[in-house]
Amino acid sequence: MKQSTSLVPQHVAIIMDGNGRWAERKGRPRWMGHVAGARVVKDVVAHCARAGVEQLTLYAFSSDNWNRPVEEVAGLLELFESHFRTQAEPLEQKGIRLSVIGQRTRLPLALRQVISDVEARTAAGRRMHLRVALDYSSRAAIQGALPAQQAVRGLARGTTILPPVDLLVRTGGERRLSDFLLWECAYAELLFLDVLWPDVTGAVLDAAFEDFARRERRYGHVPQRVSA
Ligand code: IPE
Ligand code: IPE
Ligand code: MG
Repeated sequence: MKQSTSLVPQHVAIIMDGNGRWAERKGRPRWMGHVAGARVVKDVVAHCARAGVEQLTLYAFSSDNWNRPVEEVAGLLELFESHFRTQAEPLEQKGIRLSVIGQRTRLPLALRQVISDVEARTAAGRRMHLRVALDYSSRAAIQGALPAQQAVRGLARGTTILPPVDLLVRTGGERRLSDFLLWECAYAELLFLDVLWPDVTGAVLDAAFEDFARRERRYGHVPQRVSA
C-alpha cells in the first residue's frame, strides 16, 4: 500500500461535531449552531487549501442524522442548498473541486440539482478536492462496493471508497467515528478535539497540522531511529 510521509496531511477528514451544543450553551436554538458551523466551513476550506492539503473530506450529514427532529433535518437541508449555491463561484475561483459523497437519492430534488451544478462548475479545480458527505454511511459505502452487493442491487450511486485518510479530526469532544470513512481511516492519525465546530479557527487547524507532523507513521514497520 502507498505510504504517505508528507508533513502536511494530504487527505484530511473532519467530523464537524458540536454545532448543537455550541448554540445551546449560548441559550440559542440548535439551528443557529448549524448556521454558525456553515460559516466556519468556508474558512476551514480556504485555510486547508492555503496550507497545501490536497483532499479534504467533511462529514456534514450522516445517514443516521435522518433520525433527528424533522425541523432540524429540514433546516440542515436548506442550509446545504444555500451553501452550495453561494459557494460555487468562490470554489471555482480558488481552483477547488467539490464533490458530494453519500446516497443522494433521498435528498430533495432542488438540493440534488444544486449539487450537480456545483460539481459541474468546479470539476476542473486542481488545487484541492473537497468532498462533502451527505446522507453518508461508511458501512453502506463498503457494502455497496462489494461485487456481490453490486450484482444484487445495482451499483449504489455515490457510495465510493476514497483514497486513504492521513489525518482524521473530530471536534466536539466525542471519541468515536460515527460511521465515517471506516475503511479509509485504516492508518489515519486520529485527533479528537474538545473545541466545538463553530469555534474552530485557523489556529486550531494549524495546531492540528503541527500535531500530525510530530507523529511517526509506521505502517507496521519498526520505528525509524537516527543512526548513531
Ligand atoms: C454536527 O453538530 C452537525 C451535524 C450532525 C449535522 P451536532 O448537531 O451533532 O451538534 P451536537 O453534537 O449536538 O453538539
Ligand atoms: C456525526 O455527528 C455526524 C456529523 C458530524 C455530520 P453526530 O453528532 O451525528 O454523531 P453521534 O450521534 O454523536 O455519534
Ligand atoms: Mg453531534
